[in-house]
Amino acid sequence: MSSSDKTVPKKSVGIEDLAVYVPRLFLPLAGEFSANRGIDPGKLIKGIGIERMAVADAHEDAASMAAMSLLELMRRNRLRPEEIGKVYVGTESAPDEAKALGTYVIGMLEQIYGKGSFQEASTVEFKAACIGTTFALESLSYWLAAEEEGKVGVVIASDVAKYPLASAGEYTQGAGSVALLVKSNPRLLALEQIYGAFTRDENDFFRPMGCTTAIVNGKHSNQCYLDAVQGAFDSFAFKARRQGVIVPGDGENVTDFMDHLLFHIPYPRMVEYASAAIFRHDWRKGRRSAEIERELGRDPIAQEYEDLQKYQEAEADYARRFAKSQQFLQAFAAKVRDTATLSRQIGNIYTGSIYLGLASLLEMQKIHAGQRLCFGAYGSGCSALFFSAIAQPEIESVPLRGLPQRLEERKQISLQDYELLHEGRKKDSMLQPREEFALVGIDHQGYRHYEYVQ
Ligand code: HMG
Repeated sequence: MSSSDKTVPKKSVGIEDLAVYVPRLFLPLAGEFSANRGIDPGKLIKGIGIERMAVADAHEDAASMAAMSLLELMRRNRLRPEEIGKVYVGTESAPDEAKALGTYVIGMLEQIYGKGSFQEASTVEFKAACIGTTFALESLSYWLAAEEEGKVGVVIASDVAKYPLASAGEYTQGAGSVALLVKSNPRLLALEQIYGAFTRDENDFFRPMGCTTAIVNGKHSNQCYLDAVQGAFDSFAFKARRQGVIVPGDGENVTDFMDHLLFHIPYPRMVEYASAAIFRHDWRKGRRSAEIERELGRDPIAQEYEDLQKYQEAEADYARRFAKSQQFLQAFAAKVRDTATLSRQIGNIYTGSIYLGLASLLEMQKIHAGQRLCFGAYGSGCSALFFSAIAQPEIESVPLRGLPQRLEERKQISLQDYELLHEGRKKDSMLQPREEFALVGIDHQGYRHYEYVQ
């Protein structure tokens, strides 16, 4: 597909740059952790796909991490506070039920840029589990399309993913923040402004008021994710065709027009399940259907089974064989696999993890000008949004961030220290803060105090 076949809206808006912050502590999953929890390390490394889990230090929370990613974004782009019109924050681990996390972030940034320097920027928090940041980006893109004062917007994802100790969710935890600079005529990605949505009420994952860890119905959450992303994909495909942006010809499939597919990454294997579901769904039509049938036989059809259980078994068996088929493995390696590279070393960072996928592709220099990137965002509860963007001519000249090297420089911690941090029982930092924002106290009213530590 050549770039000339792809249209972008008249006023092009999208992602100019991104910055990632990951805590400097990590816990390897194979070793002390796997032995203590009685889990085969192969399950964690291969079956789940995570090698190291990022762990927030005692002085870190969603606000301090958000301030760190924003500071790096501003420094990388020589951005001045008065240029920023909006700071939208996606998070599900905010430290306050009322006060917007962005106000804490602005308070921290003003320690560097001067008091009042952000006073003309507005900030709001988007809570929708792991899809909050994507809804923030969608909203900001509409605001930017109408913005006439030359301001830019910032979207920040920041979360500490936390499940109970020794639960099945524990090995999918992580922590980190991604800040996106969103503006007109962006250097990285121009949004095509087509959003396919899917929402339904689900109990797959939630965190009632007062709970510090999420309640998750794990297997059900996987299925909700797959249903929702497929629903959003269909909605996107319908709108893209109606707007004349993706119009498959005879025998062509919608995914033929996508160079990279980025999904929400709760753990890397989920990206494999999601892409298998989407390719299988999309390839049921077009020229690939005959090729797939030759390799795997016919897709089971519910109406042809009298016994529901027999149909479900046939379906599960077909899905397993599809995920091992040459057709799928080639498409996965070419369009999806590399998005999970950083997540293997970090774990789930909830609402930022799909953009960690984008950072993986950027750091590995896998995106080329003119390519179409499609994003399948998911948030429990549950919602999905499927949208697309076109890589811009300057994408290959934007400086890299050195993320793989920074991840190598982190400090490994023991299982005991991880558990103390997890339970909030470690009061002193494992690593003394340096050149970073740190939570230095919570006063008698519950207000949090942060300082930039030189
Ligand atoms: P589990 O019971 O730990 O794992 O649940 P499993 O038994 O399903 O095994 C996983 C895979 O490991 C399987 O692969 C096993 O075969 C394989 P598959 O058969 O599917 O190909 N395996 C092995 N592989 C190699 N060597 C071995 C071995 N043993 C087994 N020895 C689950 C996994 C993800 C459900 C659990 O960890 C969990 O509950 N996690 C938290 C919830 C979650 O991440 N859900 C994802 C979808 S919902 C979502 O993404 C939203 C979320 O981010 C929150 C938000 O929106 O805010 C979570």
